[in-house]
Amino acid sequence: MKVLVLNGPNLGRLDIRDSSIYGDMSYADLVAHIHSAAKTHGFVADVRQSNDESEIIGWLHEAADTNTPVIINPAAFTHYSYAIRDAAEMVTAPLIEVHLSNPLSREEFRHTSVISGVANGTIGGFGPNSYVLALIALKALVA
Ligand code: DQA
Repeated sequence: MKVLVLNGPNLGRLDIRDSSIYGDMSYADLVAHIHSAAKTHGFVADVRQSNDESEIIGWLHEAADTNTPVIINPAAFTHYSYAIRDAAEMVTAPLIEVHLSNPLSREEFRHTSVISGVANGTIGGFGPNSYVLALIALKALVA
C-alpha cells in the first residue's frame, strides 16, 4: 500500500539545522530511512518535502482524492496553518502527524498544533524513528 510522507518547511536542510534538536541526519538520509522502514512494514512511501504551503495543500488534496494514507511533518506550519489543517481534514484515509523533536518540550509557540485535531494521532520526540513509529501505527490502522 502507498503512503504519502509529507515534510514541511526547512526539513530539507536538516543537516544544517541545530543538531542538538534535530540530530545529524541529512534529509537524504531521513528519506532513505523512511523508504526502508516503509518496505519493512509493507508500504511504498512517496516522500516529499516543500517550503511552500500551497504545494503541501495540493498534496493533501491529492491524498483526499485518491484515499491515500498520509504521514505528515508540517514543521513550522504545524503551529499556525489553518489552511493545511483544513486540507488535512479532507483526507479520508488515516493521517498521522509526526515530529522529529518533541515540540511540547520546546518554546511555547510550538506547544500548539492546529493539525493534531484532524490527525489520527501525533508522534514526536523520537528523531527519525518518529516516522517509523507512525508507519507501525498506520499498519494497524489500515489492517
Ligand atoms: C518539527 C518541529 C517544529 O516546531 C519545527 O518548526 C520544525 C520541525 C519537528 O520535526 O520536530 O521545523 O516539526
